[in-house]
Amino acid sequence: MSNNEIKNICCIGAGYVGGPTMAVIAKYCPEIQINVVDTNKERISAWNHKELSNLPVYEPGLAQIISTIRGKNLHFSCEIQKHISEADMIFISVNTPTKTKGIGAGEASDLKWVELCARQVSHYSKGHTIVVEKSTLPVRTAEVIKNILDNSVSQTKKDERIAKTFDVLSNPEFLSEGTAIRDLESPDRVLIGGDNKKAINILSKIYLSWVPKHKVLHTNIWSSELAKLTANAFLAQRISAINSIAALCETTGADVREVARAIGSDTRIGEKFLDSSPGFGGSCFKKDILNLVYLAKYFGLPQVADFWQGVVELNNWHQKRISKLIVNKLFGTLSGKKIIILGFAFKANTNDTRESAAIQICKDLMQEGAILHIHDPKVQSSQICIDLNANLIDENDQRVNSENNNVWIEVKDIYHSFIDADAIVLLTNWEEYSSINWELASTKMRRPGWIFDARSIVNQEDLANLDLNFWRVGDGSLN
Ligand code: UDX
Ligand code: ADP
Repeated sequence: MSNNEIKNICCIGAGYVGGPTMAVIAKYCPEIQINVVDTNKERISAWNHKELSNLPVYEPGLAQIISTIRGKNLHFSCEIQKHISEADMIFISVNTPTKTKGIGAGEASDLKWVELCARQVSHYSKGHTIVVEKSTLPVRTAEVIKNILDNSVSQTKKDERIAKTFDVLSNPEFLSEGTAIRDLESPDRVLIGGDNKKAINILSKIYLSWVPKHKVLHTNIWSSELAKLTANAFLAQRISAINSIAALCETTGADVREVARAIGSDTRIGEKFLDSSPGFGGSCFKKDILNLVYLAKYFGLPQVADFWQGVVELNNWHQKRISKLIVNKLFGTLSGKKIIILGFAFKANTNDTRESAAIQICKDLMQEGAILHIHDPKVQSSQICIDLNANLIDENDQRVNSENNNVWIEVKDIYHSFIDADAIVLLTNWEEYSSINWELASTKMRRPGWIFDARSIVNQEDLANLDLNFWRVGDGSLN
């Protein structure tokens, strides 16, 4: 690095975070060469594929950026060693799943990939390097990274030692699936945490190429790491809060949509993120809250841990509540009943099913003997088989009629699937479900027919005069 100018960036991890983030930086900083590296060869070839529909991440606007700058100042490669050694700045964007075994299993993040990255950086980097944590990490991870880097410096031969130095910064991402490019191009804020002002300013300068100055926030490194976890925990907490009120609305005759509108117009509360639903999903919310819970326990704050644990528990309870309610409304048994599931992704406009509420609800309904016919415009049937641990069968298959067979049927034609259905359950807020012709659906369903709307997307007026039963999440006025 000369004159504090970054000329060469290496991003380790070409995943959901690394790919789009580097694409946007490359777009606005044409003078910087950016190499995104990954151990996964297929992923790298997909990023390099000339057919842009084959990119490994689908985000509106991403393919267009890639098409204009790939091969110019944005490159995807498996040559990790080479690009680390050439870089002035290294972003760590690798996966940090929840630990499945050992201390903190089920709560703490597994840092083995981050640690490996730090070791690679310490080994191959040259001169002064700014290392930026981009992945969502538990608080004090920067300390781990710094430790590994510093140790490597002290182990390096004397003559090389002078040449190798590091700064570690935290720069968490706040991308939401489906709007990642918009979130990157017009962020609410960019957060940079660190203890070296000079390094912070160097990273800020990159973002200032397109982000207004007042939106680039500087904090100490621990605040930055904790702010990321807290942002997701607060968002998830709002959903558990509104879903808890939805349950109360259903028993008291109130309508949660009206309650949300009333409280959301208080500017201190705000109107966003108040849609009652089958419960939050996605790869971040649960993982980040469990991380907070682990941290709080670790630092001897059990009340804090319990508070946040409650947000996850409410979410689990709410999903169970919905499946139980379906069983109750269908006379206490689902055995052999045909239930249509509309939507399997954790939210609309993504094919991601991680932690989707649909997984638990479908499993519960299958357990009760229901024959599930599942539709989702973007999720692949192979993914649904994995998530449900169930086999995909044809609707004429004999196994349809035998109980507890762990089988499901893929819906290709929504209206065809409605023939003889006992219930339709809406779980993802896909736009296309809001224009379903319920009159037509009603002519095909068995009686008594039920519509369970867990996303408040059905227009109740469309059901007037149709002899269908209707349940909507949080709407006590329907009882
Ligand atoms: C989230 C954060 O929004 C993002 O800032 C962070 O970087 C990653 O995690 P994402 O997981 O893509 O992004 O999804 P988001 O749009 O936040 O929705 C999460 C879940 O909450 C979805 O299941 C969604 O359906 C649900 N949700 C959202 C509700 O149930 N009600 C709402 O009002 C909003
Ligand atoms: P995220 O959503 O955080 O971007 P992903 O799982 O989509 O997570 O992507 C993380 C990427 O990081 C994966 O493609 C994985 O192969 C890559 N990765 C993990 N560890 C390393 C490593 N040590 N070196 C290079 N790439 C790595």
